[in-house]
Amino acid sequence: MIIAPSILSADFGNLQRDLEMINRSEADWFHVDVMDGVFVPNISFGFPILKQIKKYAQKPIDVHLMIVEPQRYIDDFCVQGADIISVHIEACTHLHRVVQQIKSLNIKAGVALNPHTPASHLQDIISEIDVVCLMSVNPGFGGQKFISNTYKKIQELKTLIAQSGSKALIEIDGGVDFENAVALKECGADVLVAGNTVFSHSNPEQAIARLKQT
Ligand code: DX5
Ligand code: ZN
Repeated sequence: MIIAPSILSADFGNLQRDLEMINRSEADWFHVDVMDGVFVPNISFGFPILKQIKKYAQKPIDVHLMIVEPQRYIDDFCVQGADIISVHIEACTHLHRVVQQIKSLNIKAGVALNPHTPASHLQDIISEIDVVCLMSVNPGFGGQKFISNTYKKIQELKTLIAQSGSKALIEIDGGVDFENAVALKECGADVLVAGNTVFSHSNPEQAIARLKQT
């Protein structure tokens, strides 16, 4: 299981400390949530923060773009250090083109799905992508309640991936905790994003180790 702590829940006044904690921990990726206040009803951060994350991060940086017209910014996110870029299917009129744009930069391409978007919408693109980011909350905020319809979607996605011969990883984003992590693994999740579960814990490094052991 790949564990990707979400920086959205880190202490931005002590960002270096939290980044170094993730370096030391058993986490695998840094999950970086970019929100534009248009695609989602919240604004998080952009390039200056990503630049700081890149300065300290010793593990791959997984950038989740919750923004409209992501194609306008993909090249810059790559220059600033993204190793994986996920765009929302709901934000891309020409998803195939955007996926090719990401891959042309020699980084991994991800596609994120809102809770209401069926897994089947990926049928004609699944063989092209490296990561499917299944939103298990409505994107925009950390610390929300997990939507249990996600289990069914993981199974549908698993079938789609198997049928197409795709190697896409299934990433679950939103409301992941110690309890549902076990069930998510059993369903076939490959990557767990965790914000609140890690950073609201009295010992975040231990919380990461516990998720890793699921
Ligand atoms: C939600 C973000 C998530 C969020 C997860 O819009 O995409 O990555 O930070 O946070 P938790 O784990 O607290 O739900
Ligand atoms: Zn995210």
